Amino acid sequence: MNEISEYRATELTADQAGSVAELLFAVWPASTKTLEVRRQQILTPPSHYCTDPDTIRRFVIWEKGRALAHAVTFVREIRHGDSQSMSVLALASVCTDPDQRGRGLGADITRACFRQVGRSGWPTLSLFQTPVPLFYEKLQCRLVDNRFVDRNADDREANPWRDKYVMIYPGEHPWPDGVIDLNGPDY
Ligand SMILES: CC(C)(COP(=O)(O)OP(=O)(O)OC[C@H]1O[C@@H](n2cnc3c(N)ncnc32)[C@H](O)[C@@H]1OP(=O)(O)O)[C@@H](O)C(=O)NCCC(=O)NCCS
Repeated sequence: MNEISEYRATELTADQAGSVAELLFAVWPASTKTLEVRRQQILTPPSHYCTDPDTIRRFVIWEKGRALAHAVTFVREIRHGDSQSMSVLALASVCTDPDQRGRGLGADITRACFRQVGRSGWPTLSLFQTPVPLFYEKLQCRLVDNRFVDRNADDREANPWRDKYVMIYPGEHPWPDGVIDLNGPDY
């Protein structure tokens, strides 16, 4: 088991945020976010992403001050059916340094995120998008096929997700049919 450090929203130092930003930049070079924008967003998360910034948790595996693997979670209130509210643990930016893959770092980081699920006062399930469903199926997640929208967006009917697949954890958790309002931008 790799040692995983856990941080609240504003607990990372500027250097640590810079190292995490470099990892994210290496994994997603095509993103429109520059290294500096990423670093700033890690130090001061944009408020529209999560329902309560106090719920933000960042997980990092370090080696000699360099971030090798990373993930971030926060609580989002989504809506389904007749405007019924549901709290989910949003999972985002799960990644491992391209040179360090296949060592179990990504799975360890993701399991650390999922350990929050079901804790007293925390959501009983996690919801996230991904291009790699097989990685998450090994971690007891399952695909869902609802239509997703963001009713706060300019285009209220557009699919807010970028990735092809949407999943929940734990896979056996009840999940509603029908349209889901993500109630904010994708993550
Ligand atoms: C997906 C990612 C985080 C996996 O990281 P990793 O540290 O190499 O993964 P692990 O070594 O912990 O692998 C755990 C298991 O998942 C499997 N796995 C890893 N990547 C996989 C993939 N892309 N597709 C399917 N299975 C995968 C491994 O073979 C391993 O299986 P095993 O337990 O049977 O041996 C990493 O490839 C990555 O950063 N990808 C780019 C960013 C990305 O797509 N992130 C997911 C966003 S939702």
